[in-house]
Order: sequence, then structure tokens, then C-alpha cells
Amino acid sequence: MKIKKAIFPVGGLGTRFLPATKSMPKEMLPIVDKPLIQYAVEEAANAGIEQFIFVTSRGKSAIENHFDHSFELENNLLLKGKKQTLASAQDMLKIPGSYAYVRQQEPAGLGHAIWCARHLIQNEPFAVILADDLIFGQSTMKNMIKNYKSGNMVAIMEVDQKQVSSYGIIGSHDYSSKLIEINQMIEKPSIQNSPSNLAIVGRYILDSSIFAILENQGQGSNQEIQLTDSICLQIGKVKCLGYQFEEERFDCGSKLGFLQANVAYALHRNDLHNDLSKWLKNLVE
Ligand code: UTP
Repeated sequence: MKIKKAIFPVGGLGTRFLPATKSMPKEMLPIVDKPLIQYAVEEAANAGIEQFIFVTSRGKSAIENHFDHSFELENNLLLKGKKQTLASAQDMLKIPGSYAYVRQQEPAGLGHAIWCARHLIQNEPFAVILADDLIFGQSTMKNMIKNYKSGNMVAIMEVDQKQVSSYGIIGSHDYSSKLIEINQMIEKPSIQNSPSNLAIVGRYILDSSIFAILENQGQGSNQEIQLTDSICLQIGKVKCLGYQFEEERFDCGSKLGFLQANVAYALHRNDLHNDLSKWLKNLVE
């Protein structure tokens, strides 16, 4: 099925990255030289998405500016003949009207952020990508769309037993394939109550019927309106699948994950690999 629209929720406060995120959106933090949000948009474009919907909040205008012309910069690079640098600054200018922004007036949770985009989605299935969940290869959403027929689909990965209480965890009768039929979903369970160690990470394809559920969804964990709680309420009514991806994922909402992503992505770059690996070896020795 063709999925044309993706939502990028970027309305959170990014408190784990203070003071860096006091006046700068967390999603603009760079992995090497590219902001997290650009990786997310590139992954969506790679999956055939045509409309990019950002749920923003106060203080997030740097994201809008990033996906627009920067006249002074571009003019300067043009005059100096720096063609390659100019191309990288213009990389993300899509067909006019491809980017849309809607404001979440308070950080009431991921579920609330998604609900804020309801009028821009209307009655079609849509993708959701969380920029701080960075997945290597930028092909996870493409693979999810390939496998999607109807209902809700979430990306899942195995986590350490000790970590289940930090995630939404799924349960199933059958864990034997890459696509798992979900019959249970618990947000941040204790180890004892966890149905498995398969955690939901920030990639979703959702049926638009989720908006009616989100509309009445009360607060869940962290006193926030949780997307997982609404997806869970739809189990049994609409098909709910988990897609187990294989690529490495970095939790760039945490300091450790962010640092690991920077090292891993830099080591994959021809211009940085040799010098960085030499320096890392010396550091460890
Ligand atoms: P997180 O919980 O990881 O982000 O939400 P956060 O709340 O900004 O970060 P911390 O925990 O305070 O450090 C995952 C994604 O959902 C968005 C965030 O911007 C992030 O990209 N989000 C979260 C919203 O858009 N609105 C919200 O109310 C909450």
C-alpha cells in the first residue's frame, strides 16, 4: 500500500539534553554533521513519503528554517563557487508545499502530538518517525511499508530484560517470524509484568482510526498521553503487527546513545574513518 504522509513529532522538551536543548530543539542535535531530524526526513523520503508533517512547539523554529532556503548563506557560497557545500545546504529543499507544520501547544505526550496532526492526515494510513530513534541504513520505514497491508504496525527490537521498564513492550502468541501479530502491549512494564523483551521503537504506520481513540485517551505513564496506550486499545479491532528490524538502532534521546551514534556514523565515513579509529585506539590503549 502507498503511504504518502509522515508525522515527525518534535514537540518534546528534550530535558535529558539540558542545557544544550534550552534554546535549541533536541532534534537539531547533529550526528557528525547532520541534524537528527534530517536523517528522519531522509528515511521517510527513501520510503516514498511525499508529505512531511512536523508537530512542533514553541522554540522549535530552527527546524522550519533548516528545511527552507538560507538566502545569505546560499548566495555567499554561490559567489565563492563552493558548489558542493551549496548542494549540501540545498539538499533538503523539496517540492514547495511538501513540508507542513502544526503546533502542539503543550508537551502533553507523544499520543497528543500525533493527535495534533489529525486534520492534516484525515482518512488514510500514515507513518510516524521519531527522530531521536536513529536506525542505521535509513531503510526501516521503507521495509515496514513493503510489509504493510492495513491496521497498525510498529517497529520492534529485542532489549535487555533490565531495560523493559523504559519501553512499550509487546506480547504475542507466536514470535517465530519477522512480522509478529501483537495481542498485548504495555507501556513501561516491570520485569515481572513484561510479556516479552520486544520493545517498540520510534517507527509506526497507523490507521487513521487511531485519532478517535487518541481524542479520548487519558494520561498514562509520566502523566502523558501515550501513543502505545491508544494502539493497545485497538488490538482485536484492527490488525496490529510488530516489524522486527535488523539494523542497529541508537537511542539518541539519551546521552550514551547519542555519543555512540556519533562515533558509529563517523567511523562509516570515508573522510573520518582512519583518523578517528587511530585516535580511538590510542585513547583506549
Ligand atoms: P521523548 O520523550 O523521547 O522526548 O519523546 P522529550 O520528552 O523531548 O525528551 P526528554 O525525555 O524530556 O529528554 C520522543 C519524541 O516525541 C516527541 C519528542 O519531541 C521526541 O521527538 N514528543 C514528545 C512530542 O512531540 N510531544 C510531546 O509532548 C512529547
